Amino acid sequence: AATAAADGLPKLPKKAAYKVGFAQTESNNPWRIAETQSMKDIASKCGWTLVYTDAASSASKQVADVQSMIAQKVDLIVLAPREEKPLVPAVMAAKKAGIPVIAVDRDLDQSVAKPGRDYVTFIGSDFVDQGHRAAEWLIKATGGKAKIIELEGTTGASPANNRKKGFDETVKKQSGMQIIASQDGDFARDKGRQVLESLLQAHPDVTAVYAHNDEMAMGAIAALEAAGKKPGKDVIVVSIDGTKDALQAIIDGKLGATVQSSPFFGPISCKVAQRYAAGEKIEPWVKVSDLFFDKSNAQANLANGF
Ligand code: AHR
Repeated sequence: AATAAADGLPKLPKKAAYKVGFAQTESNNPWRIAETQSMKDIASKCGWTLVYTDAASSASKQVADVQSMIAQKVDLIVLAPREEKPLVPAVMAAKKAGIPVIAVDRDLDQSVAKPGRDYVTFIGSDFVDQGHRAAEWLIKATGGKAKIIELEGTTGASPANNRKKGFDETVKKQSGMQIIASQDGDFARDKGRQVLESLLQAHPDVTAVYAHNDEMAMGAIAALEAAGKKPGKDVIVVSIDGTKDALQAIIDGKLGATVQSSPFFGPISCKVAQRYAAGEKIEPWVKVSDLFFDKSNAQANLANGF
């Protein structure tokens, strides 16, 4: 299948059935589980036999997973890159082997690899905007005055970089909003809890927590309660994703709001692959739009949580 279009991208031939690799980053949280389920659910409807790999939170394992998909001669690779830079060589190897790659949910380092030239497209949310929306809500909720601890996602991952960028640039415009500490919690509940536990020792005056995902927010809520603070009252917490646990925490008054980050990439990946196989030029960024949940709509949307 090693044919290339005029722009250098490998083509996807039009066929009734495809062997498609889905390279997942990890499966230790509800967001990842929902994303994988969405890919598995669409596979038969889209005529895909799925070759599924789980990189178990390791970028180097994910590189090996993509290499193995190349060796198995899949028709297409749908890649959820754990980090922006380390996965670029794997994408280049797939290109060289004539296998198109679609990046979903997280992007690659676009200063090195370009959508439309090295991979078909990036399908995902506007992470900078998610950060803006979390910051705007927090500014309103705190009257523009807060001492904030930021729990960052995995270092080197595009949602961590961009959720930080969007949030930080919005709060910087408000003189009363101060980020007093910002540290990597690896998008994980337990890591988020541990990081906040230790930051609380140095910053007992914290009044707000911004977590780059709901899992870390849940860990933060546990750490605040263990330290005798009331989340939602003493410390306002805001995060991103829209998990069931987060929606329940909003209903319980412990989490203020969460910006949705949709994990449902199956149907949209199928549609983009079909358009690409039909010879359409795909836009470099297929943007996913996200909802917003706070106490006004959490109860009504509980069933939309994952
Ligand atoms: O890439 C999307 C992010 O990755 C989600 O916000 C997070 O929960 C997941 O681990």
